[in-house]
Amino acid sequence: MQQRSNYFYITTFLFTCLLQCCTSTDTITQNQSFKDGDLLVSSNKSFAFGFFSPGASLNRYVGIWYNRVSEQTVVWVANRNNPINGSHGVLSIETPGNLVLRDQSNKNKLIWSTNVSISGSSAANSSFIQLMDTGNLVLFGGEGNRGIISWQSFDYPTNTLLPHMKQGVNRTSGLLWSLTSWKSKDDPGTGDFQFKMVLNGSPQFFLYKNSERLWRSGPWNGIQLSGVPDMTTRFIFSVDYVENNNEVSLSYAIHNPSIFSRMVLNESGTMDRLTWQEGQKSWVQFWTVPKDQCDYYSHCGAFGDCNPYKLGEFECECLPGYEPKVKSEWYLRDGINGCTRKPGEPLCGNSTRNDVGFIKLTSVKVPDTTNAVVNRVLGLKECADFCSKNCSCTAYTSANVSNGGSGCVTWHGELIDTRQFSNQGQDVYIKVTASELAEYVKNVKGSRHKKWIIILVASIALIVVLIFVIFIVLRKRKGRRHYIQELLSFNLSPPSVSSYGGSSLKRKQMDENRDLTIYDLKTISCATDSFALANKLGEGGFGSVYKGRLSNGCEIAVKRLSKSSGQGIEEFKNEVTLIARLQHKNLVKLLGCCIQEGEKMLVYEYLPNKGLDNYIFDKEKGELLDWRKRFEISLGIARGIVYLHRDSRLKIIHRDLKSSNVLLDANMQPKISDFGMARIFGADQMEAKTLRVVGTYGYMSPEYAMQGLFSEKSDVFSYGVLLMEIISGKRNSSYFNDDAVNLIGYVWELWKEGKALNIVDSAILGESYNPDEAGRCILIGLLCVQEHAMDRPTMSEVLSMLSNETSVSSISPKEPAFVIKKSSYQSDKTHTYSSSASLGASVDDVTITVVRAR
Ligand SMILES: *[C@@H]1O[C@H](CO)[C@@H](O)[C@H](O)[C@H]1NC(C)=O
Ligand SMILES: *[C@@H]1O[C@H](CO)[C@@H](O)[C@H](O)[C@H]1NC(C)=O
Ligand SMILES: *[C@@H]1O[C@H](CO)[C@@H](O)[C@H](O)[C@H]1NC(C)=O
Ligand SMILES: *[C@@H]1O[C@H](CO)[C@@H](O)[C@H](O)[C@H]1NC(C)=O
Ligand SMILES: *[C@@H]1O[C@H](CO)[C@@H](O)[C@H](O)[C@H]1NC(C)=O
Ligand SMILES: *[C@@H]1O[C@H](CO)[C@@H](O)[C@H](O)[C@H]1NC(C)=O
Ligand SMILES: *[C@@H]1O[C@H](CO)[C@@H](O)[C@H](O)[C@H]1NC(C)=O
Ligand SMILES: *[C@@H]1O[C@H](CO)[C@@H](O)[C@H](O)[C@H]1NC(C)=O
Ligand SMILES: *[C@@H]1O[C@H](CO)[C@@H](O)[C@H](O)[C@H]1NC(C)=O
Ligand SMILES: *[C@@H]1O[C@H](CO)[C@@H](O)[C@H](O)[C@H]1NC(C)=O
Repeated sequence: MQQRSNYFYITTFLFTCLLQCCTSTDTITQNQSFKDGDLLVSSNKSFAFGFFSPGASLNRYVGIWYNRVSEQTVVWVANRNNPINGSHGVLSIETPGNLVLRDQSNKNKLIWSTNVSISGSSAANSSFIQLMDTGNLVLFGGEGNRGIISWQSFDYPTNTLLPHMKQGVNRTSGLLWSLTSWKSKDDPGTGDFQFKMVLNGSPQFFLYKNSERLWRSGPWNGIQLSGVPDMTTRFIFSVDYVENNNEVSLSYAIHNPSIFSRMVLNESGTMDRLTWQEGQKSWVQFWTVPKDQCDYYSHCGAFGDCNPYKLGEFECECLPGYEPKVKSEWYLRDGINGCTRKPGEPLCGNSTRNDVGFIKLTSVKVPDTTNAVVNRVLGLKECADFCSKNCSCTAYTSANVSNGGSGCVTWHGELIDTRQFSNQGQDVYIKVTASELAEYVKNVKGSRHKKWIIILVASIALIVVLIFVIFIVLRKRKGRRHYIQELLSFNLSPPSVSSYGGSSLKRKQMDENRDLTIYDLKTISCATDSFALANKLGEGGFGSVYKGRLSNGCEIAVKRLSKSSGQGIEEFKNEVTLIARLQHKNLVKLLGCCIQEGEKMLVYEYLPNKGLDNYIFDKEKGELLDWRKRFEISLGIARGIVYLHRDSRLKIIHRDLKSSNVLLDANMQPKISDFGMARIFGADQMEAKTLRVVGTYGYMSPEYAMQGLFSEKSDVFSYGVLLMEIISGKRNSSYFNDDAVNLIGYVWELWKEGKALNIVDSAILGESYNPDEAGRCILIGLLCVQEHAMDRPTMSEVLSMLSNETSVSSISPKEPAFVIKKSSYQSDKTHTYSSSASLGASVDDVTITVVRAR
């Protein structure tokens, strides 16, 4: 590829040299032959024509490219499906006046021809070909008339639409001006995607993959294509739509001639508008379709309406008066089968009795007009009248929206591929029965009423927040920091998709706020080999975790939050805000994050040894962790939690401490991870309550599992469980015995009999084993899992007991929680649960709904 582009540069360079001695040439006349290596350059040097090889290909093609753009950008190819092997291609104008490409090394085989039929060969010697400044290659002549265009490359586009080039249909000749994608970057052959106009009903453009419709432009409505609201960006280019008996076509022009802009049907199936940026020396994307789910043709089926602006909700809705055809599919977020009329009166009307009406949908892409009826004479009022009287009519709109609207488009039957736009869409009137209309009006009024209440409440809330902020600022002046202020200063809203590179601007602003690296999606994608399965480390809280290697060799772990998870963004903000501030050797280090194209990702340091659970619950690997190591790990975890609870600037409750959330680094130092569910506490707040209980069964304290109450002491409980798992090498939840329901219960039983040391994992009974220390650890573990939160020690107390600064011999623990025999806990898997809180019931009665498996 490098070689090829070098070749390209050299030819361009040579040609530029040549230009200085001989006159510029943009024409081939009758007697000349044009060989591989020759070049035509348009008179103001914008375009060049000649032989080239695309990408890594070695084949030779004849085509047109930008002469002043340093990156080889081919805009037209003559012999796209019939390449020449080797550099012996020759172009010439043959009688009676066709441009013909032949392969001299292959018996002068005909490769390609303009193939225009010219009657009479008498004056063929006047034909010539010229490359115009627009990028159009024109064959003049034929029939002795210089100046008559007999063929032009603009009539046979390949994958690129240049300014002044037409898309549509020549009704006189039947010629279809359409784009077809290349096969690949290296092969300009006819690919799978086509962009073409369909004349039926009101003419529209369609993007096809083979014969399947991918995207629809909607009809021209006087100012824009109904489905391309961005088109009204008039200050950069102008659009020319022609619809008459001779042709239906659309073309565009760029106001500033020094801008190179093109539309290209990409081989991957998107229609892109790109503009050359001389500064960056690259093509910048300006516009593209299909962009969101709603762009895909008929994404919500017949009578469906696609609304991509509903965050976290299903994007499909039914048009007013319609309901999902298959409710179960709709529930599973599959809208493909669309909607059907609600049972009730038919849409047959008698307008004098007002038994049908219309509901106006604003700012939409109008339904597919392939089967619509267009009347350019009727006004909007007459159109409504016509539609209400005609039983089969389901909707109407005006054909030309400029100057208040004129003309009438009516649909008879299914309304397909309607979607919402945030602005610049068109209005459509959907026919409904009088009773549906009445109900709709009532709801809208109701919601307007509600709106006022919401506005009122919101303004009061705003005032309260403002007062609060002022209060905080005053407090800060006094030298005290408060966490909320930190949160406020950190705006993490995802960048809105903008065609003007607005997202990069926002990212920059974020950079200024935080000394946190903001990674580019490309960098991450590259580092993880496009999130290859082989690099997947596991499934975490709200998505998958991948291993990656940056170009500087640095290894990273990327937590990619699933786009579907509704709660994701909250948790994401939470996690980034928290971890960015936390620096402790027993906490996983956050290197940066990435918010781009709807992706939310966290980039952590990579820890090669994975989770603690991989070691302590494994017979073989367990041997790697002797008593000393395990004791140090327990100490390290305790230090990490103490830091979270007390020493960091914020007070943080982890809420999901467990063995798999403790990672080990290369030196087997523990590092606590997964702060996705962590909560920040006010400095003097002791306890909080949540309605959404998240955590892992087996590690949840009773007050949290049952009442949603969490505090430092719920983390202490989890730590106690973890400690006993580390000592015993067994999972709390999977431990079964006649006398005890789980590990805690079993330890409790042994403790009462004075045989607690029996639970110590046989794998650690080596040299470093210290029964005194082990006994102390078990006792501390039991103290941590006591039923009542107030009986449990704080984490700092735990740490001082562990390091033997506080004597424990005189303390005796009370009975732990969850040791009732024959409890209905039967799962040994760790699940994250969501339970309705404040059920004063016993553990067994708690309604536990599995949100997702972990
Ligand atoms: C083309 O060649 C023929 C014979 O070789 C000659 O008579 C004629 O003048 C040439 N025409 C041009 C335009 O050079
Ligand atoms: C192209 O030509 C070379 C040498 O002339 C030959 O080895 C090769 O097989 C040819 N390739 C094709 C696709 O015909
Ligand atoms: C040239 O056009 C004729 C019909 O106009 C067609 O039959 C023939 O296949 C074409 N030849 C080439 C090389 O395209
Ligand atoms: C070539 O063109 C000239 C005039 O431009 C004409 O007189 C002559 O007959 C033409 N020759 C042929 C072979 O068509
Ligand atoms: C359409 O085709 C006819 C007949 O070939 C031709 O005369 C006319 O110029 C074409 N129109 C356009 C806009 O190219
Ligand atoms: C739409 O209406 C405007 C003004 O009424 C008119 O100038 C324009 O030609 C119309 N466009 C079409 C496509 O009919
Ligand atoms: C080159 O020519 C085209 C067509 O006449 C014109 O639109 C464009 O402005 C010219 N470009 C430059 C850089 O002069
Ligand atoms: C198609 O898109 C890919 C990926 O964005 C890009 O690398 C390629 O250059 C594009 N092709 C064209 C013809 O623009
Ligand atoms: C429409 O309703 C009016 C008033 O009820 C009635 O006179 C007329 O016959 C009805 N027309 C049709 C077509 O049903
Ligand atoms: C309703 O409109 C369609 C399309 O214009 C037409 O074919 C049909 O005859 C009309 N029906 C009546 C009852 O007017």
